Amino acid sequence: MNLNRIKRILVVGAGTMGHSIAMVFAQNGFETDLVDLKEEILERALNLIKSNLETLSKVKIIRSKEIPKILNRIHPSTSLSIARRADLVLEAISEKPKAKKELFSSLDQICSPQTILASNTSYLNIFKIVKTQRPERVLITHWYAPPHLIPLVDVVKGPKTSPETVELVRKLLIKIGKKPLVMKKFIPGYIVNRLQRAMAREIFYLLDHQYALPEEIDHAVKWSLGIRIPIVGVVQRYDFTGLDLALTFEENPSIRLVSKNRKPQTLIHLVQKGYLGVKTGRGFYDYSSRGMKEVIRERDLKMLGLLNFLKTSSLLNSSNIK
Ligand SMILES: NC(=O)c1ccc[n+]([C@@H]2O[C@H](COP(=O)([O-])OP(=O)(O)OC[C@H]3O[C@@H](n4cnc5c(N)ncnc54)[C@H](O)[C@@H]3O)[C@@H](O)[C@H]2O)c1
Repeated sequence: MNLNRIKRILVVGAGTMGHSIAMVFAQNGFETDLVDLKEEILERALNLIKSNLETLSKVKIIRSKEIPKILNRIHPSTSLSIARRADLVLEAISEKPKAKKELFSSLDQICSPQTILASNTSYLNIFKIVKTQRPERVLITHWYAPPHLIPLVDVVKGPKTSPETVELVRKLLIKIGKKPLVMKKFIPGYIVNRLQRAMAREIFYLLDHQYALPEEIDHAVKWSLGIRIPIVGVVQRYDFTGLDLALTFEENPSIRLVSKNRKPQTLIHLVQKGYLGVKTGRGFYDYSSRGMKEVIRERDLKMLGLLNFLKTSSLLNSSNIK
């Protein structure tokens, strides 16, 4: 299928990920249907998209007069029947195997045989879970939150996904300004979520044993890894450290990494108290004096500033230090 034939997008699930994925396509000129189970979820999604677009216009990524045009390209619906007009479907519903299986089976019946079906699953091997008549057009496109800001999208093929489907989706993602990474094969959590998971064990260990406060851990990371990672990533850094030293460090018995079965006590305690993060006004930090919208906007503006710097100075170009 030619890239130009992808004209109409459908995003299923208008939650944390779906609303923002739909926004990215609409921003890039695609007519985009957005389906969820309830009207009020769709209404909330459109409000969030409008607020996100206003943030983008604040930093002049879009002009404010474009906002209504972008919003007009998004067509909310509670009926999956509109899937029949989609060239590409991106599924961002809850991470439940049964729900994904049922959705893909419905999509397979409703959509044209040419339509590509993509899942945003974080951990599920959908290639084993979903059954369709078009396995060559089924793949994973795993976006990162918030999708309208974070450039990486993991593209994962199943055993039967055709190389043409992978290439088409990869090109499309580049066209809409993303930085796709085609994985060699499926693994739960892909690259970044696995690294984050490994780090989480140490973060919660340090917190639970009062080695440092949350803001101290964040201070340490922002002013070290935060600077190094955009330039040398996490693998090339070893070439600068020296691989001999890296090996000695890896084999050093004095740093015993935390067992994966350890329970993160501070995290459990906060969840039990209902401190769930920005959405409840309190998590590891206290946001209660400001609204959720304001806190998110401040984060987004800072991220946009950094992204703008990284893009204009082409620091994100991997060939930088070669
Ligand atoms: N939240 C993240 O940071 C993140 C990051 C990457 C990937 N993901 C993955 O993306 C997917 C969505 O995650 P989320 O955080 O946006 O979830 P969410 O709970 O915020 O949103 C899911 C939405 O899907 C809707 N939904 C459920 N079943 C549906 C159906 N059959 N038809 C239509 N709508 C349906 C729900 O009403 C809800 O609005 C999951 O697979 C998740 O693992 C999430």
